[in-house]
Amino acid sequence: MVSPESQAQHPSSTMAKHALLRNRASLCFSDGCLFLGGVLMALLLVWSFSSFAYPPSASQTLAASSSSASAAAGAPPECAAAAAPPRDSEESDNFYDDPELSYSMERPMRGWDEKRREWLRQHPSLASGEGGRERVVLVTGSQPSACKNKIGDHLLLRFFKNKVDYCRLHGCDVFYNNVLLQPQMFSFWAKYPVVRAAMLAHPEAEWIWWIDSDALFTDMDFELPLERYKGHNLVVHGWTNLIYEKKSWTSINAGVFLIRNCQWSMDFMDVWAGMGPQSPEYERWGHVLRSTFADKLFPDSDDQSALIYLLLTQKDRYGDKVYVENEYYFEGYWEGIVGTLPNITREYEDMDRQGPPALRRRHAEKASRHYAARRAEAAAGAARKRPFVTHFTGCQPCSGNHNQMYSGESCWNGMVKALNFADNQVLRRYGYVRPDLMDSAVVKPIPFDYPAGGDGGDGGDGGGGEGAR
Ligand SMILES: *[C@@H]1O[C@H](CO)[C@@H](O)[C@H](O)[C@H]1NC(C)=O
Repeated sequence: MVSPESQAQHPSSTMAKHALLRNRASLCFSDGCLFLGGVLMALLLVWSFSSFAYPPSASQTLAASSSSASAAAGAPPECAAAAAPPRDSEESDNFYDDPELSYSMERPMRGWDEKRREWLRQHPSLASGEGGRERVVLVTGSQPSACKNKIGDHLLLRFFKNKVDYCRLHGCDVFYNNVLLQPQMFSFWAKYPVVRAAMLAHPEAEWIWWIDSDALFTDMDFELPLERYKGHNLVVHGWTNLIYEKKSWTSINAGVFLIRNCQWSMDFMDVWAGMGPQSPEYERWGHVLRSTFADKLFPDSDDQSALIYLLLTQKDRYGDKVYVENEYYFEGYWEGIVGTLPNITREYEDMDRQGPPALRRRHAEKASRHYAARRAEAAAGAARKRPFVTHFTGCQPCSGNHNQMYSGESCWNGMVKALNFADNQVLRRYGYVRPDLMDSAVVKPIPFDYPAGGDGGDGGDGGGGEGAR
């Protein structure tokens, strides 16, 4: 057992302290934990003032002493130059220690940018993601209870798996929520308390990416062009002429959006959600929105109409910060997409067959970004690209109460086709492919140099080494 006294008496114990900090959890699982825990906490508090407030990190201290030693010995100075990366500290106060701060939307957030900046200053290792890219947390979710549609939970599982796959490939984190955080904010509005809470839970994330449970990635390679959104805080898919000229409630889709983790977004969501069911004005907003948008046929105030209304009526105030994307399927309507998937599959196979060998080379899943870039180059001139996100708007996979415009079959079959289309892009990295997009249960092994070495059909070497399990 480590004795706290011996640690405290140790003359230059930065490293020991660090080691002790790391061992705190395991120490606390052994006997005598409670008493020792109290002593440790007291010591840690002292240390946090003496050491963590102006942290000379262990390695900096070491570098400094070795530098003076090596200078004395006449050694070349490069030994001293190995600058230690700044170290994260969990010991300083930050917004989490403010009892007044609330995760709920019921209390407005103030000074979030400063709060977040201070936290980031304390956690330099989390300030940006892989390759210096801005961090993104994907947030999605579904209802707390089982789906009424008998295949609903199965479909939701596959939709969720798709998001997990995408984020494993691209380094985003995923949060799946399945409880109404603020029960008075139900239906369309349930996502805002989740997004708001995710901003607080993930100060390291520059963006929160909301994606409805019935939307999926149908291009597993594509990456958000975050550079493009530099001066913007909210990104939605839509068409500006339909917003401002046609005044259509479907001119954008609020089922997928990217929102910057900043004070502007907190304020904007307060205004936006001010038209929701927790507001005394909810009913009035229902009338206002319905009379503003001739094509909106249902009476309740919904978040999508509310967003378009804010753009329409306060363009000067919000227009600059909202990016309406339509250069790619940031969010795509399934009905126009699903029918094209078999042909897109064929076109991409042709491209892979005729294109450079990199398109056919087997590779580690972790190395996918390199190959995705090669495929994007090859696809630059293609007539059609894989749609990035396909959204089954109106299909309601969980309840099964799909819009009467569509038959249930077209919804469920469309989902299966899209899910398998996407999953084939993942499975390929594991050596398999589903030959039939409508048959979820059957895969075959991919032959070497697929698809150039044959059509990958049953006549290939499926029975050979490739197929060995
Ligand atoms: C798919 O390709 C075939 C053959 O080129 C063509 O006849 C068909 O119309 C295409 N289908 C779609 C939905 O584009």
